Parts: sequence; C-alpha cells; structure tokens
Amino acid sequence: MEKIVISGGKPLCGRVKVSGAKNASLPLMAASILSDEPLVLHNIPKLSDITLMAELLTHHGVHISYDAATQAYTFAALSIIDTTAPYEIVSKMRASIVVLGPMLARCGEATVSLPGGCAIGTRPVNMHIDGLRALGATVSIENGYIHAKAPKEGLVGTTIILPFATVTGTENILMAAVLARGQTIIKNAAKEPEVCDLAKCLVKMGAHVEGIGTDTLVISGRTHLNGATHHVIPDRIEAATYAIAGAITYGDIILEGVVFDDLLAFWDSLLKAGVTVEKVESENAAISSVTAHAEHRRDEATNFLQFGVGIRVPAEIKGVDIMTEPYPGFPTDAQAQFMALMTRCDGAAMITETVFENRFMHVSELCRMCANITIHNTSALVRGVDQLVGATVMATDLRASVSLVLAGLAAKGETTIQRVYHIDRGYERIEQKLQTCGAMIERVR
Ligand code: EPZ
Repeated sequence: MEKIVISGGKPLCGRVKVSGAKNASLPLMAASILSDEPLVLHNIPKLSDITLMAELLTHHGVHISYDAATQAYTFAALSIIDTTAPYEIVSKMRASIVVLGPMLARCGEATVSLPGGCAIGTRPVNMHIDGLRALGATVSIENGYIHAKAPKEGLVGTTIILPFATVTGTENILMAAVLARGQTIIKNAAKEPEVCDLAKCLVKMGAHVEGIGTDTLVISGRTHLNGATHHVIPDRIEAATYAIAGAITYGDIILEGVVFDDLLAFWDSLLKAGVTVEKVESENAAISSVTAHAEHRRDEATNFLQFGVGIRVPAEIKGVDIMTEPYPGFPTDAQAQFMALMTRCDGAAMITETVFENRFMHVSELCRMCANITIHNTSALVRGVDQLVGATVMATDLRASVSLVLAGLAAKGETTIQRVYHIDRGYERIEQKLQTCGAMIERVR
C-alpha cells in the first residue's frame, strides 16, 4: 500500500499550476451520452476518478480517444450498447450516478447501481429520483439498483423544486431535461461553478438553458444534441488546497490558472485569517514584492478569466470561524483544509459543517499531530497550537486526506500518510506540485 512521507516545517515558495476541475469533468464526460456526435473536452485532469468514469462510459459503449498534441479527450457515444451502470464501478466512485439522467434521456431507460454511502455521509439520491419521476420517468429500486424508464413518447418538461441545492442532483435532472419535451424549470438548483460549466457545455451542444449561475434553471427541451468542444474550468478546490499549503507553511506561492471569482467566500476567510491575497486587474501590473500578487491572462480558448494568485502570510494566522454552505458560500470541499490551517492560528476558530453529516473524519488524525480540536455536533472548535508534530496518520476520504498532507507540511518532524489512494482521486501529481515549491514530500511503495 503506497504512503506519502513528509518532512515538515519548510515554507513553500514557488508556482503551482491548477489542473482541470474533477467535479466539472465527471458530469461533462457523462454528458457525452446525450449525443451521437463527438464531445471534445480539454483540460481533463489525470485522476483515478476520471479513469473510473472513462471505464464506466466505455462499458456503456462510448468510444474515448486522447490526442496527445492537444491533450484533449474525445467522447463519441455513437450508440449505447449497455444502459446498466454496474455495482462494480459505481461502488468505487459515487459520482457515477451522473450517468443516470443522460442515459435515461438518450435511451429511454437506465439501470444504475445505488452509489451507497461513503465516509462523509449516507449520500442518498432521493432528490435525483424525485426529479426524474417529475419528468415522467417510472423509477424503482430493486436489488440495490435504480431502474428508470421514460414514457414511450419520452420525458416531459415540468417545474421541479429541489428541497436542497444538490450538485449532482441538479446535474442529473438538467441532463435529463435537455432532451425532454417542453419546458423544465429547476428551482433551488445548485449554482456551483461546476454545474455552470456543465450547463455552458450543454448549450454548446445545442441545448437551450437559461438562468445559468442562478438558482433557477429554465430548459427548453430539444430532440437532438450535437457534438461540441469544451474547455473544463480550473479546479477551485485544488486551488484552495494549495493556497492553504502556502499559508500554513508561511510560504509565498503563486497559483496559476485560477478563476478567482469561483472562490470569493474562501478568499474572504483567508484574508480574515491574515493571509495576503490580491487580485490585480491590469495585465502589466508590476508584481508586488513577496507578499501577494496576481497575474491574470484571458485564455481565449476558455473565455474565462484565469488568474495567478499570490499567497503569503506576513505575520501570524488569525482564528476565523467558518460555516460551509452551498455555493457561493464557503465550500464544504475546502473545510478540512481550512481546519488544518486553523490548527496553527493565534486564537481559536469554530468550524461548522452544514452540508454533510459526517465530514470531521480528519479531526482525530489532526489531533494525533497535536492539534487541539473538539467536536460539538456539527461544529468543531479548533484552538491554535504553537506546533504540530509529525505522526503516522490514516486517510479516510479525499479532502480529509489532503488536510493531513497540509498539516504534515507544517508539522515538526516526519508525517506518514497511509491510504493515499484517497488523495489520488482528486489531486493530480500532488507530491510533484508540492516538491516544485520546496516541500520535502515523497511517495513510497
Ligand atoms: C457534489 O457531491 C461533489 N461531488 C462533492 O465533492 C461536494 O462535496 C458536494 O457536491 C457538495 O458541494 C461531485 O460533484 C462529483 P450534494 P453531491 O448532492 O452532488 C444531501 C469532493 O470531495 N442529498 O450536493 O453528491 C446529501 O446527503 C466531493 O470532491 C440528499 O439528501 O453532493 C448531502 O448532505 C465530496 N438527497 C447534501 O444533500 C439527494 O438526493 C449535499 O449533497 C442528494 C443530496
């Protein structure tokens, strides 16, 4: 079993290129099912979750090719040969659930293994199922599988009010609605940047979607979608993770290729913690001294403004209370990482998790590194300590795992993180990216 070994205490200084967003790439890949024409995706990250989604799509009959020259993947769903998403794959990657909506829309039926829970919660999919039923599908649960079937004449648009702004629930319903007859209105829709990226790609494919970026999506169904070419947005959670890597080590790093406005609540919390983060509009802005600077460039291929963002901690880290919320609130996927930062704060911080019921698996492991954290229901009180101390710790889920890497970078001595397969699900070449900033980190077999 692979491990990551870190010798902590070194300030990180250097540049980190942010990869494509995992949580945008996965539904975008599934969207290829909607059309018999090729979907070309640029900036797909090299992650184990991406590999699993490719395995699932291949199982369904999607032909996947990679062009090394452009580093783009082409997904061609000329015909779907199997409408079942098997337990063997879905159980390894919950996000497989996002094939349900497009499969039902394209083929009139879909059988998808219930994804089951994971370390952070029971993760039900009732809202996905209720939304598809509202579009006219009959959906039953048998032997651990979701069996969905559209009416003979196809799905029919309607108004759907989501009880919670579920991200993949919104994505599943959206991808079903784009081929439904008539108009669908999704109220209380998730508006995470990843959901918006999917919606923008669907529009490129010929879908008619209004209200992108708001909590109300209005879709006018089409009978057919075309192929398209799309550039996946940068991974804002990866960017947040490396921002904290710079802050927790009192370093000075530049994040390259960040959509700054996708993380406003996060930057706000970093600023309150005393971290200097600046975005400079002008192309030729002189890079300020070591503290904070941002260079930005508009990448014509992507048509969104990407920034370099400088991170530096000029003095001590202040305690900042945070509460996770659906976008545009503080992202739950950055909660564990921010908690790692707060273990070093001068004071205390209350961290409240409102999205998942069990997303404090990192607390016990951080405490083994001499952090001082106590859990009170859905909140964790973090009292800053002078020094974290390296230890052998266990990863349990993707973001909890990376918070242990961050703590290890700051800790005195050596930290060994086991079960690093969790990290590889969401972080491309993590040790290489950190090594380029001077981290003493290596992967050992
Ligand atoms: C997506 O998961 C992300 N995954 C998660 O990222 C992220 O943490 C989450 O959204 C919240 O932002 C992908 O996009 C692939 P939800 P998702 O449906 O869609 C409850 C990571 O680390 N709920 O928005 O599964 C649910 O239990 C991963 O990259 C229902 O009760 O999250 C949870 O408490 C982890 N019934 C809350 O809603 C439903 O039908 C939010 O879940 C659906 C959700």
